[in-house]
Amino acid sequence: MKIAVADRMNHIEGSVIRQFAEAALKPGLITFANGNPAPATYPIEEMKRFFTEALESEHVESLLMYGAVQGFPPLVECLKERLAKKYGFDFEMNDLYIVSGGTQAADVVSKIWLEKGDAVITEEPSYASMYNIFRAYEADLIGVPIDDSGIDVDAVEEVLKTNPKVKLIYTIPSFQNPTGFSTVAEKRKKLYDLACKYDVIIFEDDPYAELRFAGETVNPIKSYDTEGRVFYTSSLSKVIAPSFRLGYLVVKKEFGKYVNVCKQCTDVHSNTLGQYVAWGVMTKTDYEAHIKKAQEEYRRKSSLIVETLKKYMHPSCRLSQPTGGMFIMMFMPETVDAVDFTWKGIDRGVVCVPGSGFAIDGSKPSHMIRMCYATATDEEIVKGAEIVGKLTCDMINGTV
Ligand SMILES: Cc1ncc(COP(=O)(O)O)c(C=O)c1O
Repeated sequence: MKIAVADRMNHIEGSVIRQFAEAALKPGLITFANGNPAPATYPIEEMKRFFTEALESEHVESLLMYGAVQGFPPLVECLKERLAKKYGFDFEMNDLYIVSGGTQAADVVSKIWLEKGDAVITEEPSYASMYNIFRAYEADLIGVPIDDSGIDVDAVEEVLKTNPKVKLIYTIPSFQNPTGFSTVAEKRKKLYDLACKYDVIIFEDDPYAELRFAGETVNPIKSYDTEGRVFYTSSLSKVIAPSFRLGYLVVKKEFGKYVNVCKQCTDVHSNTLGQYVAWGVMTKTDYEAHIKKAQEEYRRKSSLIVETLKKYMHPSCRLSQPTGGMFIMMFMPETVDAVDFTWKGIDRGVVCVPGSGFAIDGSKPSHMIRMCYATATDEEIVKGAEIVGKLTCDMINGTV
């Protein structure tokens, strides 16, 4: 049998993170590897209430029938209202589409706008699943650095000046996965101005924005967008539950017909029952209190990991100090290989993810380690961070 896979499949690689996530299944291992939200933040009682309400409602048949491609209208409206109020999004010019997670938003955006050979600028390190989506549409990836103040806008401009193939800039501005870094307001504005100057798209992926636990709100890049060149996505995965597979994409109205047709030929629409429950949680309960509770959970866990790491890690290591979200990055000296570090950590009972899992070329050496502090218990965080900290000393001092 000679059945060739499409050439585009040759551009996609399996996730490096997976192998460490699988290692994390070993009983007794403390895991900082998975990028999953804290289960304590799931609004389970509220979900029970609205699942029951939906199934007992006089509208049950329509809730179980195929629904609107754009999304369950009350949820669409409630999200639009929230984004307009919180960040000043302009829904005269834009519209909102419910998608099956931010992952699908990336797929839709890529399908609509990326041609083979287009270049995508991305922060590096970044969320590698998105690399694979852009690669599936045969785009080339160009990494730019990210630091404590966010994406390196000068590096972005250098690329834009010299590479006319750039079509899209992919950025995670808030509490980035994997670094935990956030892009400051001035850089967000500068990035938007660059996108206008060089006539490219910004794909703004903002699933952690609601999880700020320190400092002031910084508006998304989309809030500067007077031209409709910023495609904004966020998700309910980290504020309600990832299994709902619900996210949203905000694009200029004139592009809506393309989003609609992509949804139609991918999955028709996202899960209506889940949308009903999400809408109930967001509009008929104290949703702000729910978000505050989640922020508090992440604030406490983040402080625990930071304090413990600082206590035990070698002084030549540095941490990213997140002000929201669920990731922290530890930067080690170049003498420490992150993959080697990760396997040694697993031997000692804790699993993290090496920076190579977030690199465009994962075969290059990396000296950083991502830790997600969301799913471990407080006790596990303290114990795991102590192991990680002590391992940096042992590796740097050459005792292991
Ligand atoms: C930066 C970023 N974008 C998108 C996603 C995908 O989220 P979902 O498809 O569940 O909305 C994740 C998940 O971890 C993420 O970290």
